[in-house]
Amino acid sequence: MEILGVDIGGSGIKGAPVDVEKGEFTQDRLRLTTPEGAPPQEVARVVAEIVAHFGWEGPVGVTFPGVVTGGVVRTAANLGDAWIDLAARDLFAEASGVPVTLLNDADAAGIAEMTFGVGRDRPGTVLMLTLGTGVGTALFLDGRLVPNTELGHIEIRGKDAERRASAHAREVHEWDWQDWSKRLGEYLRRIEDLLWPSLIIVGGGVSKKADRFLPLLKDVRTPVVPAELHNDAGIIGAAMAAVPGKELV
Ligand code: BGC
Repeated sequence: MEILGVDIGGSGIKGAPVDVEKGEFTQDRLRLTTPEGAPPQEVARVVAEIVAHFGWEGPVGVTFPGVVTGGVVRTAANLGDAWIDLAARDLFAEASGVPVTLLNDADAAGIAEMTFGVGRDRPGTVLMLTLGTGVGTALFLDGRLVPNTELGHIEIRGKDAERRASAHAREVHEWDWQDWSKRLGEYLRRIEDLLWPSLIIVGGGVSKKADRFLPLLKDVRTPVVPAELHNDAGIIGAAMAAVPGKELV
């Protein structure tokens, strides 16, 4: 079965039809730029453009970089307050004329990674992190998602953890891998103290460069492994979450 997956991020909105049994794109991905300031109506227009580009008429799974409950956005740390309490699922469905399933971006990436990536067949407590503009988290117990965990926002040294541990923070502060690994390590140790997971999966674009920073992490007791699906995970997981009758969120 094919479902269209769309991943909304701070800089780009990406979509592709996904074979949900194989976890693979069936056509080349389309990436459009996120409109300046990400106003909801304009983002909805871009989502509709992606749907139209693929001539899509079936269900569509869409990710959002914030908490989503029942199709309503609850937080939007990096996209602006206009989104808060907005029925974004309905907005996207009306703009594109197709049924939409809306879920958190890290949850979507985690769903894909637990089925087709490094998390497959991994029981117990598994935490997937996405290190990008923010820090997203997806928590699984025996493969089943606990939706909308927001562990990227725990406080460390008086600051929101994502201001220290995200890939964006590394770039803004021009931290080298060593500097950033210290901060990431401190974050992971705190997470361990709270959750004691059996595996931590590190995803997001920076996971392609995992060999530059994972070996530098100190005193982290949990095995930390790079994601395998990298930036495709959000789109694939969004599509998986939208399979009719098999809603995952
Ligand atoms: C948001 C999360 C999101 C993450 C990655 C955080 O700032 O609060 O909901 O998953 O960024 O986009």
